[in-house]
Amino acid sequence: MTAAAAVPPDPCPTDDVLLGRGRELAALSRALFGQRLVALTGPAGVGKSRLAAVAAAAAPQLRPCRVRSVDLGGLLAPELFTSTLAYVLDVPAQREGSELGALARVLASEPTLLVLDGCERLRGQAAAGIEFLIDSCPQLVVLAVGRSTPGSRYERVQRLDPLAEGPAVALLSSRARQFGARAFVRSGHEHLDALPLCHLLDRNPLAIELAAGRLTELTPRQLMSEVSRPAGLLALGSAGAASREPGSGAGGLRALPERTLREAAAASHELCTEEERTLWARLSAVPVGFDLAEAQQACGGPELDPHTLERAWCGLIRSSVLVPYGAGAQRYRLPFLLRAFGREQLRELTR
Ligand SMILES: Nc1ncnc2c1ncn2[C@@H]1O[C@H](COP(=O)(O)OP(=O)(O)OP(=O)(O)O)[C@@H](O)[C@H]1O
Ligand SMILES: [Mg+2]
Repeated sequence: MTAAAAVPPDPCPTDDVLLGRGRELAALSRALFGQRLVALTGPAGVGKSRLAAVAAAAAPQLRPCRVRSVDLGGLLAPELFTSTLAYVLDVPAQREGSELGALARVLASEPTLLVLDGCERLRGQAAAGIEFLIDSCPQLVVLAVGRSTPGSRYERVQRLDPLAEGPAVALLSSRARQFGARAFVRSGHEHLDALPLCHLLDRNPLAIELAAGRLTELTPRQLMSEVSRPAGLLALGSAGAASREPGSGAGGLRALPERTLREAAAASHELCTEEERTLWARLSAVPVGFDLAEAQQACGGPELDPHTLERAWCGLIRSSVLVPYGAGAQRYRLPFLLRAFGREQLRELTR
């Protein structure tokens, strides 16, 4: 997979496997032709893994290559990156230190797209290993997917934003139907109430899917009042646990995603430093849309002197806890889900 001979066609499927990501999919597919390391990044639940999976499945149709996917979600420590990669790619055990070389020999044998999903777990400490593989394997392209990027000089970053309004509403309606929320679908509420509900969910696909699961019991109005409270938003996913098992719902209904919104937020929190957690909590009380100077003014103080706060600010941007707010200016915001989580943490800190 080297330089592109032609611009790939838009391979966006027409069903609800990947709603509203045609432009992003085309951009990602193009990048996989021309770049050696593409980093697909964005906050929890925004749809990175889904987009990456569709792009990877389409890649061999655009240019012959084998696709190898590695889920780093369970990686306990960044130092285990090389051995995890070797294990998943079936590279025989090596003497200490030569694992990367053996991996390079395997990956250099034919054109390969290597998808690394869950790169936030690498905490920016695997860039050298990835660069070694890229330097050693001329036909290797790496798609690094995660809430943060590997931090390599080779990476070309593609940031994923929330769904646009139309696809967000389409996803809510589609999942509500698949989860068996027939009253919602029949009542015509989907047209009246779906859009404000999707806005309350930040047009985040994971939040939308989990909310759709609640529409089997609640009207959209009831659900809106529930998710407008931070605790209600974070609880999404816990109430529908019984219908998680595939096929557990009547008539072979679709299964809910296997995690709650609180777990999704907590997974980001777990990877933050103490100072990042403090800033995250304090920023959750600041009206949405702030720059560094405003953050200094509102959140500086004990445990966050100006230098420490700036370091934490950069860390939260790197890990997609803070996302750009508006075009152009250096303003950021906390996605609603992470804001809700921060509010809870702030209460704990000030208790
Ligand atoms: N465009 C889309 N169309 C349909 N479903 C989607 C879309 N994007 C995401 N989803 C669904 O939303 C859920 C969250 O998506 P996904 O797991 O890809 O998020 P993520 O950004 O990888 O999250 P994390 O950072 O927690 O790994 C999944 O169940 C996925 O199938
Ligand atoms: Mg993911």
